Amino acid sequence: MLVWMLVATAAVWLWPLARAQPLCGTRTIRTGKVLDSTQHHYGDDLYFSSNTTFLIKHPCRKHIALYLGADIFFTRDNFESSLTPFSIPESMEVGNPVVTSAHFSDRILLLVVNQKVYIYDYLDNIWDEAEGIQHPVSHVTGDNCCYSLNKLCTEMHNTVFAYMHGEDLSQTHIYFSDNGGYSFDSYSPGNQLELPGTLGGIFFFHSLSQSGMLAVLGDIGMFFYTEHPLKHRMGLSFQYDSPLEVIIVPGQRGFLIFWNEKHLFMSPNSGQLVDTVRLTKGENVLFSSITDASVTIHTIATNENELAVLTREDHLYYGSLGFLSTSVIKLPHQPVWSPEVALMFHDSGRLEILTPVFDGSSLAFDFEKCSVNIQAVLMEPELQVPKCKVELLQGQFEEDMYTIDMNSLLILSASFIPRPGTSPIPLVMVSNPYSLGLHAFIEELGNTLDGNTKYSLNVQLQQQQHSGRTHPNFTSSIKRPTVSTLIMDIANKEISCVDLKPLSMLISVGCDLTKKIVVQNKISACTKGILDPVDLQRNYTYIIEKEAYDPNFLGHKATNDLFVVYPYKDLGCPRLVYFNTPWKPVLELWQEEEMKEIVDAEYVLVEVNGLFTYSYSLTADSAHCRSQPQNWSSMKQEKPSFTFTTWNRENYISCHEHNKDMPLRWPNAEYQVLGGKTDNEIIFDQRNGIYIFYLSIVDPYYR
Ligand SMILES: *[C@@H]1O[C@H](CO)[C@@H](O)[C@H](O)[C@H]1NC(C)=O
Ligand SMILES: *[C@@H]1O[C@H](CO)[C@@H](O)[C@H](O)[C@H]1NC(C)=O
Ligand SMILES: *[C@@H]1O[C@H](CO)[C@@H](O)[C@H](O)[C@H]1NC(C)=O
Ligand SMILES: *[C@@H]1O[C@H](CO)[C@@H](O)[C@H](O)[C@H]1NC(C)=O
Repeated sequence: MLVWMLVATAAVWLWPLARAQPLCGTRTIRTGKVLDSTQHHYGDDLYFSSNTTFLIKHPCRKHIALYLGADIFFTRDNFESSLTPFSIPESMEVGNPVVTSAHFSDRILLLVVNQKVYIYDYLDNIWDEAEGIQHPVSHVTGDNCCYSLNKLCTEMHNTVFAYMHGEDLSQTHIYFSDNGGYSFDSYSPGNQLELPGTLGGIFFFHSLSQSGMLAVLGDIGMFFYTEHPLKHRMGLSFQYDSPLEVIIVPGQRGFLIFWNEKHLFMSPNSGQLVDTVRLTKGENVLFSSITDASVTIHTIATNENELAVLTREDHLYYGSLGFLSTSVIKLPHQPVWSPEVALMFHDSGRLEILTPVFDGSSLAFDFEKCSVNIQAVLMEPELQVPKCKVELLQGQFEEDMYTIDMNSLLILSASFIPRPGTSPIPLVMVSNPYSLGLHAFIEELGNTLDGNTKYSLNVQLQQQQHSGRTHPNFTSSIKRPTVSTLIMDIANKEISCVDLKPLSMLISVGCDLTKKIVVQNKISACTKGILDPVDLQRNYTYIIEKEAYDPNFLGHKATNDLFVVYPYKDLGCPRLVYFNTPWKPVLELWQEEEMKEIVDAEYVLVEVNGLFTYSYSLTADSAHCRSQPQNWSSMKQEKPSFTFTTWNRENYISCHEHNKDMPLRWPNAEYQVLGGKTDNEIIFDQRNGIYIFYLSIVDPYYR
């Protein structure tokens, strides 16, 4: 509190001076001219297709950024040294090097140049063309997650779409990459492509754990989603005008920005609702949409919470992104506009206005930087900015991902202190209410030393379907691991709450990576002296005779014997099983270094080389099935591209319940599920050899 008071006092003191101060002070970066301009001479200079400029900062590596304009600049030091324009090597033969879209996927920069996707590996300074894209594309979209050690986080920045903006949905080709853009596969969003409209973009919304496609039908824009329950509805439609660029705001809160020269929209929830950005002054709304102010937007910048807009009329607007509404105010005038100027947030509350300036003497560009201290500017009395009603909002939120698995309850708390005499409303929400249930309450904690009341915000989180409060039509499939962001903020927060960042953290629902399943191995072939670990480690090879396996997993005999190198490094010594003793593996659940329990859930096995010389002890009938059980061949029929996870917890249906779609027609069919309530076992044929099984737990309720 003391710090706040000091700042406030100092600001009051400075007032008469601050008034005369400009919006920002300009400094010119003019360094490193003896730079390695080698790159420049061997390449074709890239340029941006639009009349607007745009600056993309790497959300995780803050000093790396790309400036898009009539020239393009790639910086590794936040434009703190002069640069030659960014070029693509002539060897890439791009033709007309016009850039329409760019995206940082962790350690590479993806650029769409002349309708193809190129990869620039900036760590090793290597260019390449992305694989798998057969048709022209204009855009790449993706997101970033900065907790780099987390596996789910890695999946986030590896997920990238490439597509052609504005193409008819019925004819368009969409590409998807799960390796950060190195290679792409064709992607189909299902029957949505039967719509009559055009493609406005396709995105993976990690805050909802699904992708969403923006369809443009005439002058209406609308999002379509891939997963239950959103799949059965669609986003609310909004007035769509000419191509809009869509920005996924960093931080996985679900914020999207849509813009072009004439329009600016934002969505607080991944497109389910798209709203205008209001222009306010003091307590008044001047325009319900900034575009009604007859301006031409030149460039915009966002970070996790803030938005800045510069127009060709040289108006600079600032606002904070809100869940209920987003508004901007006009900052004091100072001429900063030029065709080259771009904006970026250096930090929260620190906006930088960046202008590349050509230096004819060195063929490089210097950078003029004008740094705006938003908090200081907002104190200008002329702006009539209402005071922030909250003095403090804090919580011990780790900058990492929490996990909520099947039956766990997560309890978190934060505290907040309103300014005396005000009653701001705290806002606690999750980005994916379909998977994560939330129960929150406020508690008064007593007074602080300077007499303000302190409150505690308590939040209990659990998987939505366990919260016992929701209709099944509201919850997403429990079988699918999802991610949700928890956000604590203040409702309709004043623009002056610059330093009051919302608290947020990522929560993984349903996939605790510290847990693992281990197959008990009490008697191994090595301890019994049958196999020698030293031999096994030396690329031990065994032969599977052609009568015993099917490379296509259909139970037909193969035409050739198979030589298999035993993967000792991954598997260790094989367990020892005698063919005349029925066998069922014992599974243990471990969390970190501790054995938690013996797994009693249902699971299935498949021999990875296609060996079929084993059977199961039970039939549908003796397993007391009430409907026809699934089996490997029925699962294969459903999904022709076979993998070991073809039969999994998402598509598993227990036979112990009635199912009118699968009546029990073949009671003598083999029951191929182990574990759970039956004592089903594997019976091996009389054949000596090594079997390697892939095991999947299929019980969707198992943690
Ligand atoms: C860019 O601006 C020029 C001149 O104002 C205009 O003729 C041109 O159509 C604009 N291009 C785009 C892509 O908006
Ligand atoms: C739940 O969803 C199904 C399928 O979309 C629909 O038929 C049913 O009417 C919905 N029920 C309710 C209560 O909304
Ligand atoms: C095993 O095979 C791999 C790949 O063929 C080879 O690199 C390695 O040297 C071999 N190891 C031994 C111990 O022979
Ligand atoms: C697998 O299930 C189908 C019915 O879904 C049945 O016709 C078939 O016989 C079963 N296969 C085996 C090997 O039992």
